[in-house]
Amino acid sequence: MLCAQGVAAPLMLSSFLLLLVRANLPSGCLIASDILSCTNLGLNQVPVELPGMVATLDFNHNRIERLEAGSFSALPNLDTIRLAHNQLSRLTPGTFRNTSSIRHLDLSSNQLNIIEEHYFQELVGIKELLLYNNQIVRVESKALSGLSNLHKAYLSHNRLTDFPFFSIQEHPNLTTLDLSSNRMPNLPVKDIAALREKVQNGLFLHNNSLICECSMYSLFKQWEYRGFTAVTDFREEHTCLLYGEQRAVVHFLKHVRYFENCIIKLPTKRVSMEADAGNSVMLDCITSLKGKHLNYSWVSPSREYIAPPGNSNTLRMYSNGSLEILVAQENDSGVYLCMVHNHQESSNDSLEVNVTVQLRDQEEEPFNTGFTTLLGCIVSLVLVLMYLYLTPCRCWCLPATPSPANECSAQSSILTPTPPATTEGPGRKVSNNKHVVFLEPIKEAQNGRPRAALVLEHPKLAVTRSDADSVTSVFSDTTIVP
Ligand SMILES: *[C@@H]1O[C@H](CO)[C@@H](O)[C@H](O)[C@H]1NC(C)=O
Ligand SMILES: *[C@@H]1O[C@H](CO)[C@@H](O)[C@H](O)[C@H]1NC(C)=O
Ligand SMILES: *[C@@H]1O[C@H](CO)[C@@H](O)[C@H](O)[C@H]1NC(C)=O
Ligand SMILES: *[C@@H]1O[C@H](CO)[C@@H](O)[C@H](O)[C@H]1NC(C)=O
Ligand SMILES: *[C@@H]1O[C@H](CO)[C@@H](O)[C@H](O)[C@H]1NC(C)=O
Ligand SMILES: *[C@@H]1O[C@H](CO)[C@@H](O)[C@H](O)[C@H]1NC(C)=O
Ligand SMILES: *[C@@H]1O[C@H](CO)[C@@H](O)[C@H](O)[C@H]1NC(C)=O
Ligand SMILES: *[C@@H]1O[C@H](CO)[C@@H](O)[C@H](O)[C@H]1NC(C)=O
Repeated sequence: MLCAQGVAAPLMLSSFLLLLVRANLPSGCLIASDILSCTNLGLNQVPVELPGMVATLDFNHNRIERLEAGSFSALPNLDTIRLAHNQLSRLTPGTFRNTSSIRHLDLSSNQLNIIEEHYFQELVGIKELLLYNNQIVRVESKALSGLSNLHKAYLSHNRLTDFPFFSIQEHPNLTTLDLSSNRMPNLPVKDIAALREKVQNGLFLHNNSLICECSMYSLFKQWEYRGFTAVTDFREEHTCLLYGEQRAVVHFLKHVRYFENCIIKLPTKRVSMEADAGNSVMLDCITSLKGKHLNYSWVSPSREYIAPPGNSNTLRMYSNGSLEILVAQENDSGVYLCMVHNHQESSNDSLEVNVTVQLRDQEEEPFNTGFTTLLGCIVSLVLVLMYLYLTPCRCWCLPATPSPANECSAQSSILTPTPPATTEGPGRKVSNNKHVVFLEPIKEAQNGRPRAALVLEHPKLAVTRSDADSVTSVFSDTTIVP
């Protein structure tokens, strides 16, 4: 009874609200809770009076050409506006006056031409901005600079020939900027390299009209090397035009021979290691350079330069390049840089080792380890005993079951050193010795793994692209039985 009342009250309230607001809304609009949906109604303007508590406005698929200044003001809960598939070609100043609560704005598939400085200035809280599939030729340099809460911006399938990358340098939460399928011939490589790493990781630039040249190629090769998803997910779609010629398209991450003469400076490789305070730590300097004519040197986190013999009372350097921290302290943590120089071929390479020295908890650990090992032993023993003495009971006690041989093969093979000669069926294949009982559950777990791994560890495969290579590699990785 109480329960029914609890449900009925909001229902009545919302149908009451529905009646209240209906009068001012075009017929065909629907209200459900705090969502107002007026899609596909052929509207050419946004209704003047909107229900005050609305959080989501959906005007997708209409014919709206113009938004009046202040169209969405006085809606304190407004979170999302959808205006995709309309005919907006520009926005009136003040369109988003008093709308700082908006988080998501969808203006995709319209006819916007230039993103002017004033368009989104009032949307200080915006997280997601959808502008793909317009006719945008230019984004004015300050148009996005004040939107410091921006997480994702989608501008693909437009006509951009450049983009003000410098204006988004300070955005702390930006993780996706999609500029794919535009018409950019050149990239401001320095501005792009100055962006935060997580912006670069989600900066989509494939299918533009890039002119093939080394600095552009080098940028993408570095991203590929660092495994940035924007590049690795769309490796095949990264194209450039030889001499800017439309007909000479090169898939430059696949066909690298056009760029053989480019000098590419890949970022220094970094490895991490952990060590316990008080122990000695050996840092090996393993790089691509091999041979006898190598000179090694190190730079410690405190910018100390160490070259052979380089021995002090805290550090020792070996002729193979390894550096030993004799007694590691917590303050020895940090990034050690090793530089290798081949003085015969005048080639060089480097490696960074990120060392983390931890204080070891000497009191509890031995006890804990001992205790868990003991507990593990007892549990295993109990399980083994239970298996041996409880489960096979079915077989011994009920000799008259219709097909005892099939059912009992696994169990009986535990008890007799050799399996019964008559054994047929599922137990047969593996029951050549008494370890069969331990083999079976392991096999099962491994057969179940590929599916779980595919879903849990590679959610990307489900949502982005079905990249045949990564699918097979996932499978082959996980089905190997050690
Ligand atoms: C904007 O909001 C403020 C308070 O949130 C209110 O005083 C003001 O009247 C609003 N302006 C318009 C144009 O709705
Ligand atoms: C955006 O980043 C800032 C600073 O890193 C952080 O304090 C804030 O919580 C982030 N905002 C969101 C919505 O994640
Ligand atoms: C690549 O861009 C062109 C024009 O910019 C567009 O017509 C084409 O659909 C895009 N291709 C893909 C696969 O998105
Ligand atoms: C270098 O020499 C030291 C001492 O002989 C040895 O402990 C270390 O493992 C060697 N490092 C490599 C990479 O072989
Ligand atoms: C490099 O090592 C060689 C010996 O392997 C030595 O003769 C040469 O002086 C070293 N060069 C430098 C710059 O340390
Ligand atoms: C680390 O701390 C010890 C004393 O705890 C000090 O002797 C040593 O100089 C410090 N090392 C560095 C690199 O700061
Ligand atoms: C290492 O190589 C870079 C570029 O290849 C070069 O600029 C630098 O001078 C080299 N360093 C040494 C010590 O040879
Ligand atoms: C080094 O490793 C520590 C601990 O894993 C991490 O917090 C730190 O950010 C790393 N430093 C660099 C420069 O990668």
